Amino acid sequence: MDVGEAITDAYTSPPLSQPIDIAVLVSGSGTNLQALIDHQGSYRVATVISDRVDAPALDRARAVGAETVVVPWNGDRDDFTHRICDALERCGAAWVVLAGFMRILGPEAIRRFPDRIVNIHPSLLPAFPGSNAVAQALAHGVKQTGVTVHFVDEQVDHGPIIAQVPVEVLPDDDEDALHARIRRQEHVIYPAVVDALARGEIEVSGRRVEWRKR
Ligand code: GRF
Repeated sequence: MDVGEAITDAYTSPPLSQPIDIAVLVSGSGTNLQALIDHQGSYRVATVISDRVDAPALDRARAVGAETVVVPWNGDRDDFTHRICDALERCGAAWVVLAGFMRILGPEAIRRFPDRIVNIHPSLLPAFPGSNAVAQALAHGVKQTGVTVHFVDEQVDHGPIIAQVPVEVLPDDDEDALHARIRRQEHVIYPAVVDALARGEIEVSGRRVEWRKR
């Protein structure tokens, strides 16, 4: 399946009779969390974990009765990662979905949840990894940037790529305008990928990821 087919499939197939619980990690506004909530079916947003007690995303979670957990950042990545992993284990979610989570998880997370953590990044990786991907793309003068959904490994914005969607950069774009168009694509592709993960349709082998319809 290519990305287009997979998106169509995710939005037209009947959902699994028993939804798969996911945990979503957030730090900010949570528009991707909202898109994931809006497309629940084969998966269910059971738990939302934030490093920030004031993240607006937490209100989106509470509004639909999802469990919310705050694990405050304490400046020690290993300890923080350990507490996040314990919270994830307690909630028992099958998939860990990073959606605007602004902390880098340490190696313990990859060890405890191998090939179970996915992230969305606002560029066509490997171009422009890191926290200011949209500004980097504008500064570089690229004509196209986009969205990448990938498995999380021990390096930042580096793991095997599940899906990518290009977004054109327009001549008078500023960061907000471009990021808004990127987000619109994120809100389509991320629920489709998570739906496919829940259905067991995504297989990873080394850096290669295949989508197979079941
Ligand atoms: C998104 O652009 C995502 O790609 C990046 O952080 C942003 C989060 O936005 N990792 P939101 O909180 O989902 O609105």
